[in-house]
Amino acid sequence: MRVPIVAGNWKMNNTISESLTLISEIKEQNLNENVETVVAVPYTSLSEVKKVLEGTNIKLAAQNMHWEDKGAFTGEVSPLMLKEIGVDYCIIGHSERRKYFNEIDETVNKKIESALNNNIKPIVCVGETLEERESGREEEIVGRQILKGLQDIDKKSVKDIIIAYEPIWAIGTGKTASSNDANKMCSFIRKTIADKYGEEIKESIRIQYGGSVKPNNIRELMNKDNIDGALVGGASLRAEDFIKIVNY
Ligand code: PGA
Repeated sequence: MRVPIVAGNWKMNNTISESLTLISEIKEQNLNENVETVVAVPYTSLSEVKKVLEGTNIKLAAQNMHWEDKGAFTGEVSPLMLKEIGVDYCIIGHSERRKYFNEIDETVNKKIESALNNNIKPIVCVGETLEERESGREEEIVGRQILKGLQDIDKKSVKDIIIAYEPIWAIGTGKTASSNDANKMCSFIRKTIADKYGEEIKESIRIQYGGSVKPNNIRELMNKDNIDGALVGGASLRAEDFIKIVNY
């Protein structure tokens, strides 16, 4: 049985004080204990939010990291820095990083490997553009992102990876992929993983859907057999909505 996982991606929102307000509101509510809940907060808020999460089941994620432990990489944050804070997960290869910061499959691969070496579980984002979908190339694109992203990652490590399928045209647009289309792609991802790692990993790997997930569409998505959770952007910034999503 795969444990459902819902992660809130706050993106570049919330100062430290705003983060503390939001996390306190989330923490006060009864969250479904059968769902693993994660908050991916800005770097500046990680330490403070971590303190508030002590004693709860809510997990902490960073939104990106460099692959090297240290060095002359001005402005970057290393896995060792995240590890000392006690970060559980790190989002890797989000489409906004690919689009605005030139993230490519090769760097995604290095980051995944480095995160795993540092006991940080990667939430690896993949997804196609509207143009790619309209030209019928969505599986080719996502398949390539998966295989290049997971290149040289062994079977023992891959079990700690979460894949987030986020069609780019559905992110922040209010357009959700239909639950059938989302499930179809998640099933394709599971098959791609199965071909590389075998049946056991196929059954255990968790795949999230992301892209305009809201309280009113989460249940339908979660009812699909290949969707194990959600990566939630906009709706994770309001405690009330995020809680409704976790408690779908
Ligand atoms: P959205 O963002 O829920 O605002 O569409 C999802 C994401 O980018 O992770």
